[in-house]
Amino acid sequence: MYQMGGATRRRFMSGLAAIFGISKLTPFGLAVQAAGQAPATPDGVQIDPQTEYDRLVKLSSNENPYGPSEAVMKAMTGAWKYASRYGYPDGGITEAIAEHHKVPPDHVLLGAGSAEILKAADDAFLPDHRKVVGVEPTFEVVYRFATNSKAQAVTVPLKEDYTVDMKEIIRVTRTNARDVGLVYICNPNNPTGNVVHKDDIKLLLDGIPEDIPVLVDEAYHHFVDNPDYESSLKYVLEGRKVIVTRTFSKIAAVAGMRLGYGVAPREVIDQMRPVIYGSINAIVKYGGVAALQDSSYEARIKLLNRQVRDQTMAQLKSMGYEIIPSDANFFMVNIKRDVMPVRQEFEKRGILVGRRFPPMDTWLRVSVGSEDDMRRFVAAFKEIVPAGAA
Ligand SMILES: Cc1ncc(COP(=O)(O)O)c(C=O)c1O
Repeated sequence: MYQMGGATRRRFMSGLAAIFGISKLTPFGLAVQAAGQAPATPDGVQIDPQTEYDRLVKLSSNENPYGPSEAVMKAMTGAWKYASRYGYPDGGITEAIAEHHKVPPDHVLLGAGSAEILKAADDAFLPDHRKVVGVEPTFEVVYRFATNSKAQAVTVPLKEDYTVDMKEIIRVTRTNARDVGLVYICNPNNPTGNVVHKDDIKLLLDGIPEDIPVLVDEAYHHFVDNPDYESSLKYVLEGRKVIVTRTFSKIAAVAGMRLGYGVAPREVIDQMRPVIYGSINAIVKYGGVAALQDSSYEARIKLLNRQVRDQTMAQLKSMGYEIIPSDANFFMVNIKRDVMPVRQEFEKRGILVGRRFPPMDTWLRVSVGSEDDMRRFVAAFKEIVPAGAA
């Protein structure tokens, strides 16, 4: 099998690390992996980087700790025969997504992860010096893509209760209306984990000029259990200039395989399509079709996530820590001190947790892992953030 060379692997790692903020992992794993050396245990035994990575408790990138369902694995395994082709049959993934959402196939755009759709929206709607409006903190990749292409991000702080200040987003968008190319809303929001109220989404769409596209990033849609939430797909069906993005990285657990999509009216998709390269692999397209059909796996993951999340949050709350209500597979806890040194202490114990999300510098974002992952997390938390520090 082809092995990535050291330099290639370094480039690959730093690309993903830049997107997901997992750079500079020391001393436990990825820094060693990036350096291309096998780390040693205290007694000098060499451990290869893959084993080292496998041992980490990964609570920093909001992944699914349980892995893809059997049906997805089976479908992907069956598609290996297309690994050598360009013009392979794709399993009908676009049609399957379209049917799933009751939209025509020309309303669907596939991406190598939903991040590729976010990039396509930036490329299509934010030519030089245009503005993207959204909150801070959020999934800031959208703002990074924008500033890379000389567009500008205009951000609005969250309210005191860490919810989205929609009135302010509307005000800023209207004030800058001539220059605004895109409004970005992450629902549920990453890193806070809370939902944007359905009334606020309506307020936004009623309150800004209809020709400004609104991108609603629903990467964590499948974990939500909240009557105040609703998907913005209904606005796409109404023909509004709304792009909803979804991903197979989270609930379907194929983050490493890279598949996501956007749903929008045809004219909006047509504007984004030319900037998409088509870099999705053959195998995950089959996995995606199987995942859409596997609703029982989805329900199981959703339930497990909720149980483990709520149990961990209750433990931290009983220790006196403030936590933002979460409807996602991660949550934020206020540790009342800069998260970066604390994050390093977790790393020393082989546990990866979220980075700093300015201006919420004392809030640690923790992904929900398996029950065992969270047991290890809470034990480390008690050591690192001593009792009474809350
Ligand atoms: C809110 C949000 N949107 C999009 C993405 C990108 O995910 P992917 O490109 O794997 O679909 C992430 C990844 O963590 C995310 O948190």
